[in-house]
Amino acid sequence: MPHPARDFEGLIAKGSPEAGLLAQIDFSRLPSHIAIIMDGNGRWARTRNLPRVAGHRAGITAVRDVVETSARLGFPVLTLYAFSIENWNRPRAEVTTLMGLLREYLRRELETLQENNIAFRVIGRIEELSPAVRRELRAAEEATRRNTGLLFNIALSYGGRAEIVDACNRILQDRRRQGAGDRAVDEEEFARHLYTAGQPDPDLLIRTSGELRISNFLLWQIAYAEIWVTDTLWPDFRRRELLQAIVDYQKRDRRYGRVAGAGTLAAAGRESLRSSGKVIV
Ligand code: FPP
Repeated sequence: MPHPARDFEGLIAKGSPEAGLLAQIDFSRLPSHIAIIMDGNGRWARTRNLPRVAGHRAGITAVRDVVETSARLGFPVLTLYAFSIENWNRPRAEVTTLMGLLREYLRRELETLQENNIAFRVIGRIEELSPAVRRELRAAEEATRRNTGLLFNIALSYGGRAEIVDACNRILQDRRRQGAGDRAVDEEEFARHLYTAGQPDPDLLIRTSGELRISNFLLWQIAYAEIWVTDTLWPDFRRRELLQAIVDYQKRDRRYGRVAGAGTLAAAGRESLRSSGKVIV
């Protein structure tokens, strides 16, 4: 049953397919983090004989729809892959338009982000963006920093391998500063140096446009994510499919390398020690 405090008025009409999906969602088991590879803007434009950038512009409507729905659903983190490191190799005009659209989005949507208590955050090699874009991104981050609802990460100039390399270099830098020498690094320390430090890893990774690739996205963080792919091109993606993805996710059996229905080996080991009288737990 939807949590009574979650308000979908104005977003989801009674009796609609979306309302039907909403009713199937178990709100006590929402994903902690949903990450989305937004793909298919170019193809969307091509099928309409429009320039590629028209697809990116249409994609903003989908971004708005997904961000607002996510905030109302009440799961903690949403990450959208808007611009990869590899995307710098696209024609200059397309890159410029994408950056322009991003700035336009921020200017238009800042108020909605505030109204929905959304904290906006950028992940990626921000230093590679132009100073003007950086300034606006930082301003939006600062303006929404104290919001306590959805954390909305936007991945810009982002690459999963680059993030891992950056984390290694940050660790080396810390080591040098602390004179900590060659103490071994563990997974927790490593994760604390990622762009997403302190955030839960994605439970659900959505990709649009039917491609079965990860495309260098959140390589460390998606170790155990459930992957959900739709043929829908990003500009056509709407809350109905987001809700469907969550419904499907909740039906998956997440085993984390274990056997379904069995306890952990560690628990089994503890039990055998307990029954042998070696330890009392
Ligand atoms: C992939 O489609 C999409 C992108 C590279 C950019 C995504 C950007 C937006 C949706 C607009 C700006 C974003 C925000 C958050 C305001 P593609 O061009 O690779 O499509 P194709 O594979 O069909 O060519």
